[in-house]
Amino acid sequence: MSTIVSVRHANDDDQPALRELSARAVATLRQVYRPTPVAIGAKHARRANRQCLVAMIGPITVGYLEFETRPDALRLLGPMVDPDHRRQGVARALISQLIAIARNTGTARLSLATIEQTGNVEIFTKLGFHVVSRAPVTDAISVKNEPLVDVEMELVVSSPAGSDHRMA
Ligand SMILES: CC(C)(COP(=O)(O)OP(=O)(O)OC[C@H]1O[C@@H](n2cnc3c(N)ncnc32)[C@H](O)[C@@H]1OP(=O)(O)O)[C@@H](O)C(=O)NCCC(=O)NCCS
Repeated sequence: MSTIVSVRHANDDDQPALRELSARAVATLRQVYRPTPVAIGAKHARRANRQCLVAMIGPITVGYLEFETRPDALRLLGPMVDPDHRRQGVARALISQLIAIARNTGTARLSLATIEQTGNVEIFTKLGFHVVSRAPVTDAISVKNEPLVDVEMELVVSSPAGSDHRMA
């Protein structure tokens, strides 16, 4: 039986659970890289422009996805899924909801950047994204002292009846 994941916009009451979830989820990334202080400052500076979707399994907060509205795309920051609830379709549910928001707002694509060494390119490819470009990372430091590659990815959003978006 598949897990039922519900997705909604986050509200103020979600903040304690989201802070806890963020610390647990980001630990996976911290095994690979650490953002520079400049990158952390830039992320905080953009906080006001961000919206957040939260994923629930029953009463449990299992994931979230922050995004910004840009002229040409909805820009994902994350998603972040609790380690105990990965591979149950939580990220897929969050991105499906963001695709619905893009359709409703006439936004043609979703975009994101991920670091190749995290292994996330494969996951986002399964979620329907494709690679747009690769470049050396300038705003993060490798934990393993290896060169890091920043991968820019996008997902083209079709009209509801269209065929150009495929969830792999
Ligand atoms: C990346 C992340 C958000 C994926 O969340 P998730 O809820 O486990 O993903 P889903 O269950 O929706 O899986 C989506 C697809 O990716 C695949 N997948 C998920 N984790 C995978 C892994 N570790 N290796 C290979 N494939 C994986 C799933 O099988 C599924 O594909 P399928 O439907 O074809 O089988 C989660 O692992 C996470 O929070 N990681 C730490 C934070 C992070 O890296 N965030 C992204 C920053 S850019």
